[in-house]
Amino acid sequence: METNNNERLLLETVNVIKQFRQSDTVVTAVNRANLKVYEGQFTCIIGASGSGKSTLLHMCAGLDTPNNGQIIIRGHNLTNMKPDELARFRGEHIGIVFQSHNLLPQLTALENILLPMTIQRKSRSSYENLLDKLVTTLGLTDRLNHLPSELSGGQQQRVAIARALINLPQIVFADEPTGNLDRANADEVMRLLLQTRKEIGMMLVMVTHDTSLVQHADSVFRMENGELTPV
Ligand SMILES: Nc1ncnc2c1ncn2[C@@H]1O[C@H](COP(=O)(O)OP(=O)(O)O)[C@@H](O)[C@H]1O
Ligand SMILES: [Mg+2]
Repeated sequence: METNNNERLLLETVNVIKQFRQSDTVVTAVNRANLKVYEGQFTCIIGASGSGKSTLLHMCAGLDTPNNGQIIIRGHNLTNMKPDELARFRGEHIGIVFQSHNLLPQLTALENILLPMTIQRKSRSSYENLLDKLVTTLGLTDRLNHLPSELSGGQQQRVAIARALINLPQIVFADEPTGNLDRANADEVMRLLLQTRKEIGMMLVMVTHDTSLVQHADSVFRMENGELTPV
């Protein structure tokens, strides 16, 4: 029988293993990771560079597949999905923010933000309210017609955040989203990301080596040599 807690379980990884072959050796990047993320939570995964954080996050976001184990988001087992099914699931339910923003240079800020809606052919009315809220909260109102090259690093990353959130994903994964920014910009982007998260009520799983973010998290895990432990 499902407990109340299990009903609120949004993401679960079960004994997830990922190995990479590097010339004649095998690197175990993620070793039997068990992660649980509940509704409404902001989860932080901290750990040194090379500890396996990105590898785990990419698998949770459906960008890579484990050698072993299961990744389950709201009862949907990502590890059983065919590639096209996984791509569709990702497009509809998962938002991703990377360390480098990956904006398309020839599109304006607004066109970049709306890219997921353009791809999914969503009507303007379906996202108009959220667009307003995101643009206002992230301080992008007077930057929408700028190209990425005309924006500061912090502004570019805020555009990337708006793009990750515009389809109101069930869960957002962020991989060192402020890693390329200076301290002041990093703090500002993080403050806006957390404020936006509260306003639209999304789940956020963030990987970072910045331990100062831990104070804002509901749940914290540490990655060490591919091993994940609750903090
Ligand atoms: N595509 C890959 N091919 C081979 N080795 C990889 C690949 N991706 C990651 N690794 C290795 O897996 C380990 C974990 O890497 P990563 O997940 O990027 O760590 P982190 O994000 O914590 O810095 C490292 O030893 C890294 O060299
Ligand atoms: Mg990484």
